[in-house]
Amino acid sequence: MQNRNSPPGRKTAGLATQTTSPAKLAGAIKTFAAASSLLRSPDVLQSGAGVSENQQVDDDRMTLFHLDGEKHRKRRAAVAPFFTLRAIKSRYEPIMETTANRIVAGIAAEKNVRLDKLAFQYSVAVAAEVLGLDHSDLPAITRRIEDTINTDPTSNRPVKPESDEAVRKFFEHDVLPAIDARRSDRREDVISRMLDAGASDDLIHTEVRSYAFAGMVTTRELIVMCTWYMIDNPELADQFRSAGQQDQLAIVDEVLRLEPIVGYIRRTAAADIDLPGHGLVPAGTSLTIDVRKANTDEAVTGPCPHLIDAHRVASRTPGSSYMSFGDGPHRCPGAQLGLAEARVFLDRLLRLPNLRFTKEPKMAWFKPIASYVFLEAELTCD
Ligand code: HEM
Repeated sequence: MQNRNSPPGRKTAGLATQTTSPAKLAGAIKTFAAASSLLRSPDVLQSGAGVSENQQVDDDRMTLFHLDGEKHRKRRAAVAPFFTLRAIKSRYEPIMETTANRIVAGIAAEKNVRLDKLAFQYSVAVAAEVLGLDHSDLPAITRRIEDTINTDPTSNRPVKPESDEAVRKFFEHDVLPAIDARRSDRREDVISRMLDAGASDDLIHTEVRSYAFAGMVTTRELIVMCTWYMIDNPELADQFRSAGQQDQLAIVDEVLRLEPIVGYIRRTAAADIDLPGHGLVPAGTSLTIDVRKANTDEAVTGPCPHLIDAHRVASRTPGSSYMSFGDGPHRCPGAQLGLAEARVFLDRLLRLPNLRFTKEPKMAWFKPIASYVFLEAELTCD
């Protein structure tokens, strides 16, 4: 199922390199083997997404993303059941299907709609269920979450600080009522498990906000990017529409391989580490993994790494996804969920007649998670 006419992974490569310092690019880890070995090493510390601004913070106030070692392992194990394939099928797929059907019917009726906004609303609906954020007005909670994301281009923090008005509003309207409801009536969600572990309201609030960029923004970008690839390449869109679920997932995974949303993953060596093909890295070194390079390393992709090929062996192994979701103890717990979300939404969207962008998608670079973000993507259909 190779698609020779598909555009090579070039939509975001320029943005990623222009916005990253030449020194970082030159010293980055570029092979899949070295990247995987680094992320699986017990001798590394997380140093992405504003970690330096968190270094004064007590471990008990840190998000899952920022924790390391035993505390990380424990918090992660508590939420792992919410990310299994079984949970995706039984709990989240019905939400995906209902929400995607409603949004896509709205696109057909309204025309000239903002795909980026609608895809965010859709990913909020699913992540809210994972977290335990009850809501009756999806557009309103989506807006409040969107307002908590830090758009300051000079900052390394993905979300705004607690003192910010938007963050306070989200806490009062959405997070606190969910915590209060679960204090007396625990459910199957992240907030309930954090209460079990004795987490404070503040920590729960911080963790919930970290999912806004970890699970909601990322899924939005995946949906918009896949739509862009399919609109550019009708042959690929046909292939997607006629494929079964596994092959549809493989196509989404291939687009993500070529256009990884998290472009660079960062770690600090806590001890000397010997990386295959890279050599000895002394303790204290800051390391950057170039995800685009690792994802197009022919040693793992096979020939023609810049072509979309849904039959690439690794991309068809559930949960492989090359380096797009990282590796080792911090590997994205929502990997299967994010892929499934994109697949379900695209399966509905791509059946609209003559789907096309009325404004070419506009992107910017989101420094805190070294990712591209869509600022605008307006589309219509007949
Ligand atoms: C297509 C969508 C997604 C992409 C590309 C993505 C990417 C990533 C990557 C690369 C990491 C690892 C970062 C590192 O090692 O430094 C990560 C971690 C994480 N992701 Fe995702 N993610 C996606 C969807 C999701 C979803 C849907 C959720 C939850 C609803 C989620 C929740 C998380 C969390 C909580 C972490 C931190 C895990 C830890 O540190 O142990 N992600 N994600």
